[in-house]
Amino acid sequence: MLPEPVLAFLRRHGLAAVDEVPAAKALSGGVSSDIWRVDLRSGPICVKRALPRLRVEQLWEVPVERNRYERMWMETANAIIPGVTPRVLASDDSGCFAMQLLDGYPLWKAELAEGRADRDFAAKVGHSLARIHAATAGDKDCAAKFDTDKNFHAIRLEPYLLAAGRVNVSLEKNLKELSERTANTRLALVHGDVSPKNILIGPDGPVFLDAECAWYGDPAFDLAFCLNHLLLKGLWVPVRRKAFLQCYDVLAEAYLAGVGWEPRAGIEMRAATLLPGLLLARVDGKSPVEYLTADSDKDFVREIAGRFLASPPNTLTDIRNAWQRS
Ligand SMILES: Nc1ncnc2c1ncn2[C@@H]1O[C@H](COP(=O)(O)OP(=O)(O)O)[C@@H](O)[C@H]1O
Ligand SMILES: [Mg+2]
Repeated sequence: MLPEPVLAFLRRHGLAAVDEVPAAKALSGGVSSDIWRVDLRSGPICVKRALPRLRVEQLWEVPVERNRYERMWMETANAIIPGVTPRVLASDDSGCFAMQLLDGYPLWKAELAEGRADRDFAAKVGHSLARIHAATAGDKDCAAKFDTDKNFHAIRLEPYLLAAGRVNVSLEKNLKELSERTANTRLALVHGDVSPKNILIGPDGPVFLDAECAWYGDPAFDLAFCLNHLLLKGLWVPVRRKAFLQCYDVLAEAYLAGVGWEPRAGIEMRAATLLPGLLLARVDGKSPVEYLTADSDKDFVREIAGRFLASPPNTLTDIRNAWQRS
């Protein structure tokens, strides 16, 4: 059953009739929102509502207004590449929005878990991300609209980089600097959670979900965040580590080929220096990845991350080579 305010939202926007009580099913996966498949008389849709407190072990509270930024990211991205994210069907300031349900689209994370490493798809992810960044780079209106520095600090920089620094005291200063540099780089519209669990495999390429970390900031964050998952997935499915590294390469290459708003070497350096911070964050931050349970895997991540935080790499290849060799 849908909570009353959500049903009221659907009725207010004419999606559900006044006498209609649609069947709803919670979609699994999320830690930060309630999300339902709602079967309306007119067909199925998806409704998302932000939770004030995330379902993670450590206390982590985030303002629910991020729901509005998520919806605005979707509208902005769809105007740049139609279909790159579900179409928004209705929204208001009640903390809910309704979107198109993409039934039957596989989740990239599930494909990777099965060991399927589709390089063409990885390249498309890089390409689409770069297009969204390129189209919003230097756009003052977009920067004003996504003025979400505080949110981004609360949901990304603090629980990832700064939290990992508190656990790894010898690296705390490096992680703080990384966080500050990122916070002060405002170049393009960032999605903020480009993880395979938030990417559906659509017929024409990736469909990005879950943009509640949307922020006008450093596009290198999106690139590093996604590459980080491709590294970590190699610990999850060890026999596919090499194949996932090939996805890493083509994703990075396709992305960097689309960088026109700044020198390629600059953004690559920022992504490469962020990456070890994000690696460490997924072991020692507030949102550790669920599949890294063996101490040997965690120590492996800590060793590589520590090495590159102490002496920063210039290129993404430096990190992938270290990851492959180890
Ligand atoms: N529009 C949609 N169509 C189909 N499935 C969706 C849609 N939106 C979300 N999902 C599914 O629900 C899961 C959780 O949604 P997401 O927006 O990522 O929420 P959370 O912020 O809770 O992670 C996704 O991983 C995906 O499997
Ligand atoms: Mg999600």
